[in-house]
Amino acid sequence: MEETLLKIREVRKHFGGVYAVNGVNMDVKEGGICGLVGPNGSGKTTLFNTILGLYKPDQGAIYFNGNCINNLAPHQIYKLGLVNVFQLPRVFLQMGVLDNMLVAARDHQGDRLLNSLFWRKGWQEQERGMIEEALDLLELVELGKLAFSPAGELSGGQRKLLELARGLMAEPALLLLDEPAAGINPVLGKSIFQRLQDFSRNGTTFFIVEHRLEILFEFASWVYVMDKGRTVTQGEPQQVVNDPAFYQAYLGEG
Ligand SMILES: Nc1ncnc2c1ncn2[C@@H]1O[C@H](COP(=O)(O)OP(=O)(O)OP(=O)(O)O)[C@@H](O)[C@H]1O
Ligand SMILES: [Mg+2]
Repeated sequence: MEETLLKIREVRKHFGGVYAVNGVNMDVKEGGICGLVGPNGSGKTTLFNTILGLYKPDQGAIYFNGNCINNLAPHQIYKLGLVNVFQLPRVFLQMGVLDNMLVAARDHQGDRLLNSLFWRKGWQEQERGMIEEALDLLELVELGKLAFSPAGELSGGQRKLLELARGLMAEPALLLLDEPAAGINPVLGKSIFQRLQDFSRNGTTFFIVEHRLEILFEFASWVYVMDKGRTVTQGEPQQVVNDPAFYQAYLGEG
């Protein structure tokens, strides 16, 4: 049975007189890629920041795994497994790319690691497993050859890819991504979505804002379309592209 991982109910968030998010209801089901699209300024990033606890909703409620998270601080929400890549420990530019991956994993697995320190062999195996996983993830984002280069030598696009790989390394239950394919060549963008879909079959659910609709729609199992702070339509990608409300949202931009 598909469980609802994230439930958003009547959420509103305003800045001054403007409601950036104006009464949003959404359900993100466990497994798969859920997409969030809409024209510039439609409230997508504001909604994400509200989910992550960076903004408190003015009204409404957000539930993760059935528990209301409205009043939790960002780090508490992160600990529950609801993660955005910018919440990870920062990238250390002098440190190697691989080491930056391991920092993200250790932060997440700290407790488990502490326990296994009493079992040295177990710890070594775990460490070896983490290194292998990190190298696999770096291959996935085409940074395998740069694993031992300082992170400071990466280009802007490569740094974004490193952040994505670190997000996967943290093994979150729900990973929010705001425009992961922006500034990345289309072929790599597509292969990354392909792999995210593979990951989504192994326990990580994705909620992704993406302006590259042709890539997102190929892999998303469900898509929400926002305009002016509201959901204007939702459905499987095929349903959404056949809905006039979807075009209206984009054309209304002028
Ligand atoms: N911190 C803020 N203070 C004031 N207004 C804000 C703030 N953040 C967002 N807004 C306004 O809220 C509205 C929604 O912005 P938001 O960034 O959520 O849109 P978006 O859908 O993410 O857009 P984009 O696709 O361009 O990233 C916009 O009108 C924006 O100007
Ligand atoms: Mg945005």
